[in-house]
Amino acid sequence: MAISLVMTIKHLLDIETLEKHDIEMLLEKGLKMDADLQAGQHDKARLKGRIILNMFFENSTRTRISFEMAALRLGASVINWDNSSSSTKKGESLTDTLRCVNAYSPDCIIVRHSEFKAPYTVKRLVETSVVNAGDSYRAHPSQALLDALTLLKEKGKIEGLTIAICGDVTHSRVASDNFHLLHKMGANVRVIAPEFLMPKKRPYDNFETFTSMEKGLDGCDAVMMLRNQKERMEKSDIPDDAEYFRTFGLTPERLEIAKKDAIVMHPGPMNRGVEIADAVADDPYRSVIFKQMANGLPMRMVILDSVME
Ligand code: NCD
Repeated sequence: MAISLVMTIKHLLDIETLEKHDIEMLLEKGLKMDADLQAGQHDKARLKGRIILNMFFENSTRTRISFEMAALRLGASVINWDNSSSSTKKGESLTDTLRCVNAYSPDCIIVRHSEFKAPYTVKRLVETSVVNAGDSYRAHPSQALLDALTLLKEKGKIEGLTIAICGDVTHSRVASDNFHLLHKMGANVRVIAPEFLMPKKRPYDNFETFTSMEKGLDGCDAVMMLRNQKERMEKSDIPDDAEYFRTFGLTPERLEIAKKDAIVMHPGPMNRGVEIADAVADDPYRSVIFKQMANGLPMRMVILDSVME
């Protein structure tokens, strides 16, 4: 990718509203930040004096910590807003909470919320940059970008790769933004899922779909596994995890069907023995799952740097 690194995005709300050019620039910066970070040569004072507010209304380990680490590595200060001890628990509306927060003029708000398009609501109510750390089943742009950075580092390209996204695609914001990104970047994307978890509407209708792992994995360069998002399902949807694993779990035998050098990805948290076997998750050659998590740091450093430039 020979492109200029100049870009201006004030917010990162989803992949759908980014141009291919923006994605390429973010990824190019991600590769550079990753190399600088490894060499200890990144600009440690780049965001010195900036104050970032982390507002997570849903549980998170990787995303919250890596955003916080990213901010601190660039010299910014972080306030972790605690939903459980906030005034929303005293009945304050989200709108009033955000108006209050806006009065203190943070330099950036990172938000995760279960409501559809919640970061757009935040953006309307505050004057600062807003970064979406995941909303509903709709969007998780920083995850899609770090997944793309992982593909670039492991495979050297995205265009032309055949990538299977497997499992609970219907309820997954990771899948949703990955579809947008991979489509814009020219990958061939497949969905492998049981019929009842197969999404019926765009952006998924222009992708090949399979209800059999054995058929869908054939010829894949990368396999992205997803957790079953039971918090967004009826209890009866997947009554038996063992049965799900027998049919849709990624086992070493099934991975053999993909290309010999196919990589395995998972956004985490993994449910071992449900969507993925231990032997695959911990395979030192094929699984890039923990490298993928590590890529969250340089990618989120770039995101914070870009929106506060
Ligand atoms: C995902 C999320 O929260 O959307 N995890 C993550 O951000 N790494 C996926 C999930 O919860 O299964």
